[in-house]
Amino acid sequence: MTATPTFFLWTIGCQMNKAESERLTNHLKCLGFDEAATAEEANFIVLNTCVVRRSAEERTLNKLANLKGLKQAGAGRSIVVTGCFVGPEREELHRRFPHVDFFFGPGDFGDFADWTTELTGIRTAGDSSFLTAHPDVSSFVPIMQGCDNFCTYCIVPYRRGRERSRPVKEVICEVERLVQRGTGEVTLVGQNVNSYGHDLPGNPALSDLLLKLSEIDALKRLRFLTNHPKDMSPRLIETMAALDKVCEHLNLPAQSGDDDILRAMGRGYTVSQYSKVVEEIRRIPHVSLSTDIIVGFPGETAGQFQNTLNLLSRTRFDAVHAAAYSPRPGTVASRTLKDDVPAGEKKRRLLEVETVQEAIAGEINRELVGQDVEVLVEGRKKDKWEGRTRSNKLVFFPCNDHNMGEPRGEVVTVQIEKATAWSLQGKIVDYEPK
Ligand code: SAH
Ligand code: SF4
Ligand code: F3S
Repeated sequence: MTATPTFFLWTIGCQMNKAESERLTNHLKCLGFDEAATAEEANFIVLNTCVVRRSAEERTLNKLANLKGLKQAGAGRSIVVTGCFVGPEREELHRRFPHVDFFFGPGDFGDFADWTTELTGIRTAGDSSFLTAHPDVSSFVPIMQGCDNFCTYCIVPYRRGRERSRPVKEVICEVERLVQRGTGEVTLVGQNVNSYGHDLPGNPALSDLLLKLSEIDALKRLRFLTNHPKDMSPRLIETMAALDKVCEHLNLPAQSGDDDILRAMGRGYTVSQYSKVVEEIRRIPHVSLSTDIIVGFPGETAGQFQNTLNLLSRTRFDAVHAAAYSPRPGTVASRTLKDDVPAGEKKRRLLEVETVQEAIAGEINRELVGQDVEVLVEGRKKDKWEGRTRSNKLVFFPCNDHNMGEPRGEVVTVQIEKATAWSLQGKIVDYEPK
């Protein structure tokens, strides 16, 4: 290894992976590694992978293929793979990818710590460097691991195991540490954060955790995701409305707008139950809502797909993450249902969802033109600052206004001048440079 060893971390997938990569970064920096700009320059390459759809798995496979040559070329380079690509069959993985030095399952940081100790001879204090993310203006904090829902299409429970919640004290400690080091906004993440705490002594709920975290003075904003519609409790909605720091934004994945498809997906709610939950949530003033949709689930007819479009038109989400159904190995749907919606038809349905949603989001966002919004400034892109509203909308505003110093990490007021379906643009209206 060279005098200043470097690492390169490649991350795809959901917020859970992002949260875990923030932890891996912290751990590697604690070990004295510097971050390299490219894999080629790094002594140590970590891939944090996703397999939620075949396309994600293919990106991982391509990356692994590219690294093969690099491994052969560079002596002393180590390659480590984690994330949902790493299932329980480790021997099989080693046989297929002999150029990978080490595999560890998503979130199995203890295994990784033991391995890095062996490699570097450096032992960090237990594996405590993993208990905190690398601080940023906005940080993700995992509050639970795994999922017990087994939606019939989903591979996640097979790769991340059963639900395990992190103790309340541990989460509070981590958020306090992050805030001391400059984090302003924390997003609590898990596959189903609504069932947080059911496995902990005393059964603390997500609302209890939000209440405690709200008391951390320097913390500006709190968010949480993902929410399963069947587990949204009235108390959680009340807590959201009552606590100033908890932002008015929820991701509530519907997946489909058709009862028969929802049943085949094993989601545990009907369209009308879903819409009732939305109605409850909309009592929170200015709340914004996003959702996830799968098109082309096995057997989805044109009429059933139309029901999904109807749900989107009725509900008017602020954002929709749509994906074409992809059969995943081991899942109930892939074993028992034929993937019978042709690829071209899935693409067409996806496009239709996107078209309908773009019009809706454009209309919703244009209503903000002329209004003042609170923006937490996250960073700079060329001559614009960027940040998010409490409702999770991306906002850009020019750097040259008000002779601005360094507003990163500050909450500023921006007057919206332009809006598209994807972002807002405006000018800063009150900011006292420090
Ligand atoms: N726990 C979250 C989401 C986890 S996966 C939830 O329950 O909503 C993120 C999204 O990927 C899901 O919401 C779903 O829309 C999509 N997804 C999961 N499996 C998929 C599959 N086999 N094909 C297509 N999309 C899938
Ligand atoms: Fe997958 Fe369903 Fe669990 Fe979400 S709730 S991770 S979609 S099994
Ligand atoms: Fe992908 Fe695993 Fe997240 S499969 S979406 S990284 S839980």
